[in-house]
Amino acid sequence: MKPPKSAGERERKLWLEIDENNIPSHVAIIMDGNGRWAKKRGLSRIKGHKAGAKAIENALDSALHLGVKVITVYAFSTENWVRPEYEVSVLMTLLFQFLKLQKKKLLDKDIKLSIIGDRSKLPLFVNREIDNVLEETKNNNSLIFNIALNYGGRAEIINAVKGIIEKGLKKEDISEEVFSKFLYTKDLPDPDLLIRTSGEIRVSNFLLWQIAYAELYFTDVLWPDFDTIEMLKAIIEYQKRERRFGGTGGI
Ligand code: IPE
Ligand code: IPE
Ligand code: MG
Repeated sequence: MKPPKSAGERERKLWLEIDENNIPSHVAIIMDGNGRWAKKRGLSRIKGHKAGAKAIENALDSALHLGVKVITVYAFSTENWVRPEYEVSVLMTLLFQFLKLQKKKLLDKDIKLSIIGDRSKLPLFVNREIDNVLEETKNNNSLIFNIALNYGGRAEIINAVKGIIEKGLKKEDISEEVFSKFLYTKDLPDPDLLIRTSGEIRVSNFLLWQIAYAELYFTDVLWPDFDTIEMLKAIIEYQKRERRFGGTGGI
């Protein structure tokens, strides 16, 4: 694939390795390691989250150039509320600032915002900004930037079951396809590639239903250090995988 003009020597080589006919449509990322990144530098965890926010912008740019259609980032889990109140409130404020600052860029780059998770527990100032950016970017088409906020895979499944009961669906109405339509991700394709940074080999309640056949990619790199080069390495690894979906792969 043709490298962007801004690419340095090392990055250029990786871009040239990318097969533009085998780009994952949906990349989901568990952005982990902000706290450890900060600790390594003798900084507060908060500084780590700030650095993490910058890495998101970078991931959006590489996704755009690659032609990825949806990028989902895990920003706050249903379990993250157990963190110290100060950290939770800083995360909410950073999210608010991120959306405010990114709004113009999202518009310029034709990126559409999407949110999954239970928004009812988010602070009002965050929800207002989300509504604003959702509205402003709703007609954008180049890339869907999907943020998982107060998201948990189990909570999502429970929420779907409740929705199904509320609608009065019958046993015989239920299929995988119908069930999917009650998930937060009803309008999105399943992820093709799931990336987790920071060396933890677990999914931490992320997209449990949707990752049934995703390719999993784990890297020791901490999220704030996950730059374009790291994204390209993940895509190159993805392109080496043989996706079988239960078939024989022709063997
Ligand atoms: C990921 O970084 C960001 C969020 C969960 C919000 P962490 O804050 O989990 O960083 P570590 O895992 O403590 O290094
Ligand atoms: C997963 O990271 C959640 C997000 C990235 C938002 P955590 O740091 O919360 O996950 P665990 O606790 O290490 O499994
Ligand atoms: Mg973590």
